[in-house]
Amino acid sequence: MSTRRQFLKAGAITVGGFIVPWKQGMANTTSLPLDPAEIPKFVDPLPIPAILKPRGKGKNAASYKVTMTEFQQQVLPAGLPATTVWGYEGSYPGPTIEARRNKPVIVKWINELPNQHFLPIDTTLHGSEPWQPEVRTVVHLHGAHTKPQFDGWPEDWYTSNQRKNFAVFRYKNDQEPAALWYHDHAVGNTRLNVYAGLAGLYNIRDKVEEALNLPSGDYEIPLLLQDRSFSEDGSLFYPSVSPVPTAPVPSVIPIFAADTIVVNGKTWPYLEVEPRKYRFRVTNGANGRPFRLQIIPDAAPETSLPFHQIGTDGGLLGAPVPVGKRAPDGKPAGPQVTVAPAERADLVVDFSSYSSGDELTLENINIPDFPFRDPATTGLVMKFKVIESKGEDTSVLPAALRPVPRLDPADAVKTRNLTLDRVTDEYGRPKFLLGNARWMDPITEKPRLNTTEIWNFINTTPNGHPMHVHLVTFGVLSRRLFDVEHYKATGKIIYLSPPDKMLPPNENGMRDMVRVPAGSVVQIIAHFNIPGKFVWHCHLLDHEDHEMMRPFQVVPGRRRGHKDRDDDEKDQHDDD
Ligand code: C2O
Ligand code: CU
Repeated sequence: MSTRRQFLKAGAITVGGFIVPWKQGMANTTSLPLDPAEIPKFVDPLPIPAILKPRGKGKNAASYKVTMTEFQQQVLPAGLPATTVWGYEGSYPGPTIEARRNKPVIVKWINELPNQHFLPIDTTLHGSEPWQPEVRTVVHLHGAHTKPQFDGWPEDWYTSNQRKNFAVFRYKNDQEPAALWYHDHAVGNTRLNVYAGLAGLYNIRDKVEEALNLPSGDYEIPLLLQDRSFSEDGSLFYPSVSPVPTAPVPSVIPIFAADTIVVNGKTWPYLEVEPRKYRFRVTNGANGRPFRLQIIPDAAPETSLPFHQIGTDGGLLGAPVPVGKRAPDGKPAGPQVTVAPAERADLVVDFSSYSSGDELTLENINIPDFPFRDPATTGLVMKFKVIESKGEDTSVLPAALRPVPRLDPADAVKTRNLTLDRVTDEYGRPKFLLGNARWMDPITEKPRLNTTEIWNFINTTPNGHPMHVHLVTFGVLSRRLFDVEHYKATGKIIYLSPPDKMLPPNENGMRDMVRVPAGSVVQIIAHFNIPGKFVWHCHLLDHEDHEMMRPFQVVPGRRRGHKDRDDDEKDQHDDD
């Protein structure tokens, strides 16, 4: 009996009034579900994505060519069938791009994918109508401070059989060093394209960070965390039947939590570690699953190995924050590392108190408002196997890292109240909106160029949503519970908790993602300094594809004669 079916049988789980698990129903494959309990764990090493080599290194920019194709990859352990995936440069995840601060990078993103999707398309979603091509892609560099024409506007997709099956994007990298990631962003199909494998990592570095002497080279390890469900023939499974009986088939579903954990494109891998410090750069690349991470020594499973968080989405924190502790009763104590989809966490873990032969498990511990976790499968992420030291650890974990470039609320020229809403669509499905508006409704958020604004994300829905704003790296001013019913009746916010209670120090850096829990208001502050149209959205990809995404436009300021030294001309070469 498959776990997926057991899960279904077990799970008439209701979250906020709708049932979340999906029915097996009409799948994209005729093969039976692969039981995650039967997938051998920690048998294959963690793959490290290759560093992409530039085609040319002009004095102005490093240029790259990246092609999207369909291919087979051994995502499951050796011995099980290979999986058909989509990837960049023949790899899932794609190769990592290493950039330097203020040194531009030009990427020619080429679509050579087939014209048919292998996952179920919902043609009732905006942008995915039956007359649209099935396979449409456009790349977004998540976290990038970039011009709108290079940001991957969701409707600027292209296909492989178009005359121009590529886009050339220029990234200036004029921002704090950070771990960014690139992924597909085609309107209506983002969840399917990313699930198929279209994601990769992109680091920005500088001398200041390097001078900190954090663990580097072989001791800095990227961890792209995702979940996937497989069929017995190795194919990827994505549900096509909504729990809502009146929904079309295939249909988008309220949220997809898959049953198998995949790190850097490999199910439940292991990593050999020396007894020393490591820097782990964690990116949650899952469609809908959040992770809460602890490291558990196998010899003492009631304890944990505490570690430090040193950075968030937007770069380093001011100082390392101790995280991942357990109280004597085994419960989490103090700040924990929680990463919702698209959030990043920069971690330093010290294995020096262990010796060769010891093993530790990176676990995904329980998150109270996310019930789709099975301790024996999705509760496990990967294994660390301690080996002999290969030399002295000369890296350091400095007491102070880097001043966080905070924005001052006194500089904000505008505060916007932006609701997260839940409505029902014409098929009876729950649908989430932003400011009660749909993707195609007129633009209502128009910050003036070179101004700072405060945005209040007011979550009136019974679900948490990880919110993302393109272009900016923002500060989080507060996260507070509020009286939802009173707000709905009067439009007035009554706070039920103090401003900082729900804002742990390890999350309080500069961000491009912020979790907005059910019944909370999260206040962010951002500076808008590139004109043009961008998007903001929930990063649960099932929500994003189903109207929980809105445009915003940075418009010229009132001050006349203000010249933002513009090199639009130079940047416009949209050809290669
Ligand atoms: Cu990571 Cu608009 O996306
Ligand atoms: Cu959402």
